[in-house]
Amino acid sequence: MKVSLTVNGVPHTDDVEPRTLLVQFIRDQVGLTGTNIGCDTSSGGACTVHIDGESVKSCTVLAVQADGADITTIEGLANGDQLHPMQQAFMENHGLQCGYCTPGMIMAATSLLEENPHPTEREVRIGLEGNLCRCTGYHNIVKAILAAAEGAPA
Ligand code: FES
Repeated sequence: MKVSLTVNGVPHTDDVEPRTLLVQFIRDQVGLTGTNIGCDTSSGGACTVHIDGESVKSCTVLAVQADGADITTIEGLANGDQLHPMQQAFMENHGLQCGYCTPGMIMAATSLLEENPHPTEREVRIGLEGNLCRCTGYHNIVKAILAAAEGAPA
């Protein structure tokens, strides 16, 4: 089957098997490996991307279901050498340990702040409940998101 979608502003058209997951398409056919496969059971969120601006676990979507969509992955957040404010906040607050969950955390966190620019700590923790960090580095992840929110326009 043919699928046409845009990833980080670049159009991609390719043949896929009907069972191809969006995360596989992004990694294997588009060649962007920042989106990680953590669990394959839709529990961990390392595969989180934005589909038409919404945060989605890309292992829960077939590539054909995303036909025509506008996808943003972690590689699409920075503006050239300038990190996205959320990436900067994760770096400054050491919001990572092994880094495997980080792309998904950042994609979920940017989406969270779009919906709620000034969340409480509890709202951040609830907002991130679909994203797991096996290093249990949640404290600094939450700190990073709150720091990014402080820098967000009121
Ligand atoms: S790979 Fe674990 S939630 Fe998608």
